Amino acid sequence: MLTLKKPLKPIVIYKNAWLLEAPALQLLAEEFGTPLFVFWEERLWQNVAELKEGLGLLESNFRLFYACKANANLSILRTLLEAGLDLEVNSVGELWKGLKAGYKPQQIIFNGVGKSERELKEAILQGIHCINVDSLSELMDIVHIASRYRKDVPIALRLVPEIKDGGLEGLETGHSQTKFGLPPSQLPEICKVLKDHPYVHLSGLHTHVGSQLSNPVSYRLALERLLGLRKELEKALKTEIKHLNLGGGLPVEYRHEAYPQKAPCPGPDKSFAQSFGPKEMALVLKDVVPQDIVLYFEPGRRLVGNTAFLLTRVVRKKTISARTAPWLILDAGFNVLLEALSYRWYFHLIAAERPQAPHNTGYFVAGPLCDGGDIFPIPHTNCPFYHRLLPENVEEGELLAFLDTGAYTLEQMTYYNGRLPAAAVLIDRKGQIRLIRKRETSQALWANDL
Ligand code: LLP
Repeated sequence: MLTLKKPLKPIVIYKNAWLLEAPALQLLAEEFGTPLFVFWEERLWQNVAELKEGLGLLESNFRLFYACKANANLSILRTLLEAGLDLEVNSVGELWKGLKAGYKPQQIIFNGVGKSERELKEAILQGIHCINVDSLSELMDIVHIASRYRKDVPIALRLVPEIKDGGLEGLETGHSQTKFGLPPSQLPEICKVLKDHPYVHLSGLHTHVGSQLSNPVSYRLALERLLGLRKELEKALKTEIKHLNLGGGLPVEYRHEAYPQKAPCPGPDKSFAQSFGPKEMALVLKDVVPQDIVLYFEPGRRLVGNTAFLLTRVVRKKTISARTAPWLILDAGFNVLLEALSYRWYFHLIAAERPQAPHNTGYFVAGPLCDGGDIFPIPHTNCPFYHRLLPENVEEGELLAFLDTGAYTLEQMTYYNGRLPAAAVLIDRKGQIRLIRKRETSQALWANDL
């Protein structure tokens, strides 16, 4: 904990984008080094409030299970627990982290395409709230474990809704060209297994259309799909299905200012815009939700995405061709922001110490890794250039910030090229700085090598 005489006050620079004043940024960079994730606790609470308020419009019961794949840092998990959220995990590792953070097994849902028998056994013996079953073969394992240990196991079936939505192709998970879920055609076989089983009970149905969704109507279509199947299953199994789980997917605004007309490159693709929020989702669902159902949601990105920025320093500036823009090489590459490579994700980049200066000069921006893919282009289908817009005269040593880097970042860092993952600090509600992820030492590079 860094005790400051004057509490830090984040400043909101555009709609949802926020930053700290230059002296505070310089202090953080000095004290903790770069690259450094800077989180804002107040924003996390605001996001929870936005979600709960929006879903209040449903006028029916709902439960929120935070999808901790988005960010499973213990401090973040604990804050969300305090804010009243339950938890969605995707592996026994995330289950352990959730328990360590203080979540009770009864608050935890287990999703995933590849849960091993060992993982299922652990989840069942812990007595978690629900396992979302992804395949017939997984169901058979659950049946064996439940019978062997005489443990009641509530399950939900993860169904393929055949809906195409999601920021990018890799984030679409709701149709049958993806690896996720059970096709409704397998339900008769599943019913045979579940009928009158003494330990495995169908308590819900689950679906997840995708991440960074573009249209709230996708939720309504998914719910309608589940409602249709619910009737069939209730009849076949003579049971009552109590919850319907619509997964995650609410989008985050990654684009900020509009790129000026005469910029060397158009702005990022519309997939990076936040086209709707929890309110719009609730409004399209409202008329379709039956009163005897509890709706479950598994928000990840929307809760944590805009709670952090990544502070990074320009290590080198160089010119390769006098006819093109100069290159800025940062101390953060895809070892810290893996999405930049895997999805060509767009994180808005600004000159952190002078955010109000006109960002009107094109630069090629890259990370330090020995890999031509370690670059930060503007993902736009019609754009042949990789320019970023920053102020004039960005020089070595200047601090830059990638905004909205709270989701799917800390969790995906690697040690590639012998570079240590970034540390993270949190500005708490009193304006004090707390280190929430230590900077690792060189030991980490060989700790597991024999
Ligand atoms: N529930 C399930 C079953 C999911 O698969 C996901 C995300 C969520 C909930 C949370 O979705 P969200 O609210 O965050 O959109 N690594 C990728 C993101 C993959 C998301 C996978 N599933 C990335 O770097 O963007």
